[in-house]
Amino acid sequence: MASAPVGVPRHVAIIMDGNGRWAEERGLPRVAGHREGARAVNRTVRACRELGVEALTLYAFSEQNWARPEDEVDALMQLLHDYVHEERFEILDNAIRLTTIGDVARLPAFVRIPLEALKAESANNRGMTLALALSYGGREELVRSVRRLAHRVAAGELDPDAIDADAIEDGLYTAGWPAPDLMIRTSGEVRLSNFLLWQAAYAELYFTPVPWPEFQRTDLEEAFANFAARQRRFGLTGTQALAAGGGR
Ligand code: FPP
Repeated sequence: MASAPVGVPRHVAIIMDGNGRWAEERGLPRVAGHREGARAVNRTVRACRELGVEALTLYAFSEQNWARPEDEVDALMQLLHDYVHEERFEILDNAIRLTTIGDVARLPAFVRIPLEALKAESANNRGMTLALALSYGGREELVRSVRRLAHRVAAGELDPDAIDADAIEDGLYTAGWPAPDLMIRTSGEVRLSNFLLWQAAYAELYFTPVPWPEFQRTDLEEAFANFAARQRRFGLTGTQALAAGGGR
């Protein structure tokens, strides 16, 4: 896989927020906002691929979203199903590797089965990685990893003093992936909402008032330009970061 061009984040994570409000402001049902949001997903995947992003992680359905009204959950599941069917060729023809993070076993079979099939079919693709966060929660992910370690300690396989950040990271859905460089949230809210809590430790955060259904390639390019102008220090001084090749 080619490296992302200079200034382009290697791994972009997006909290696609504002579908419901976008629809309600237009007197439409919330699901109309999600439908328009799915179009924004298509645009954004294409733009990221063309701009040279290596990995794009989209927060499509949180663990907490299961508690939304049943008709909204059903509509979101239908949209995911449609996405997998309608974007199959776009994904395969463009060497995109589709993957997921989250408790996908909870998804209904009519979504899970074609989704898993497309994941398998695209697994060896070497273009951009597209990760859909589905039934995902950052805290739940950490609990899962820590519980795995606790079982290994209880079984006498692991010394508690040997537990370090790598051990926790190995139990995350994203084990072995580069951490997100840029996390974008649309629609004006300024919070992480349980998304990639561990992985975002050094992510650059970018908040835009644009609601997700209206998010365009130009908005993405604006976020990338903002990202390119930042100095990433990872806890070092500015001078040290420069010497280490990071930042400006
Ligand atoms: C948040 O907006 C968005 C979601 C909970 C769902 C995101 C889903 C899509 C963009 C479409 C389907 C996904 C794919 C990958 C095809 P919100 O409903 O919380 O908005 P609000 O804060 O305005 O109510």
